[in-house]
Amino acid sequence: MSPKKEYGDFQTPESLATRVVALVDELFGVPDFVIEPTVGLGAFLKASAECWGENSEYIGYEINKTYVDCARRSLKQLGIQILHRDFFNEDWKCNIARLKKSRTLVIGNPPWVTNSDLGQLGSKNLPPKSNFQGLRGFDARTGKSNFDIAEWMLVRLIEALPSHGAIAMLCKTMTARKVLRHFWKTDGGREGSRLFHIDAKA
Ligand SMILES: C[S@@+](CC[C@H](N)C(=O)[O-])C[C@H]1O[C@@H](n2cnc3c(N)ncnc32)[C@H](O)[C@@H]1O
Repeated sequence: MSPKKEYGDFQTPESLATRVVALVDELFGVPDFVIEPTVGLGAFLKASAECWGENSEYIGYEINKTYVDCARRSLKQLGIQILHRDFFNEDWKCNIARLKKSRTLVIGNPPWVTNSDLGQLGSKNLPPKSNFQGLRGFDARTGKSNFDIAEWMLVRLIEALPSHGAIAMLCKTMTARKVLRHFWKTDGGREGSRLFHIDAKA
């Protein structure tokens, strides 16, 4: 089994992270706290700290211990905290509420892998069993219940965000659309949602 595939692992190039942070700066302004929930080597937190410096605080979470050690070493002097954690074992509402900050920004690039890929790999890197899209047995049989684990993560994170918070994530266009549709169906949507096209191969 390829660990890269199992963990949907494609590290974001620093140049792209810097451009994304510049866009967030333009649209949202300076956050008071920046969270990267699957931080990898930390391109987004590095770019964030270079943009907002001591105006913000920074924390990253990551399951891969090698990345955690690497990111801790390279980001230490920027005052960035990196925690060795499994996204699926975290209570994100509690993590974000504990910060007691309103302008919280969640930024990053969650894993690029689907629940059915993970099922085939026999992987346990999956959300706890949950039918969050309200799908019935028939949908499950037709494959409609297949989803990117990024979709599950984004829904959890958006639910956890305070009203003055923001989220900026790289994901498949289909994942972004499904996440937006989930919120339109469940609570009338979120204000100011925008999609920006990126050619991931380039
Ligand atoms: C697409 S990569 C992006 C890494 C980083 N966010 C970036 O933009 O460069 C996805 C990251 O998610 C991490 N990851 C996968 N499953 C995870 C989990 N259950 N909890 C925390 N991190 C996880 C992987 O190890 C990998 O570093």
